[in-house]
Amino acid sequence: MISLTENERQSLIHLATEARRRAYAPYSNYPVGAALRTTSGRVFTGVNVENAAYPMTICAERVAVFKAVSEGERQFDVIALVTSNGGAPCGGCRQVLAEFGMQTLVLIADADGRLLQQATVADLLPGAFTPDHLKT
Ligand code: THU
Repeated sequence: MISLTENERQSLIHLATEARRRAYAPYSNYPVGAALRTTSGRVFTGVNVENAAYPMTICAERVAVFKAVSEGERQFDVIALVTSNGGAPCGGCRQVLAEFGMQTLVLIADADGRLLQQATVADLLPGAFTPDHLKT
């Protein structure tokens, strides 16, 4: 598992907190911000983007992953997630993170920048269905 310095942790949480201000969450009023770091050191942020047709909503983590992948990045080492109360990633986002690596570290923080939980994707999604299962 990667080890982060306190500075790295705080800087990712800070970027996720800043991103969270740009969340579009008029229906739930539950803005979420994410900051995903690639192994090459780039950081992609994401926010939840809701829709009047509620199921069209996309979570912050998936926005960050899809932005990164669309820019050619597929290797991630850590994602910071910030909500008002330290909410954990939803099941769908755990699955999307699992696609790109079970060892990605997930930092879960609240709006005051307090780190409430730190776990790998493997911890959060035991027994995941992964690309390996499709290898013949
Ligand atoms: N949400 C996320 O952005 N990430 C999660 O992992 C959990 C939920 C968003 C979706 C919706 O806009 C709001 O939080 C309330 O569910």
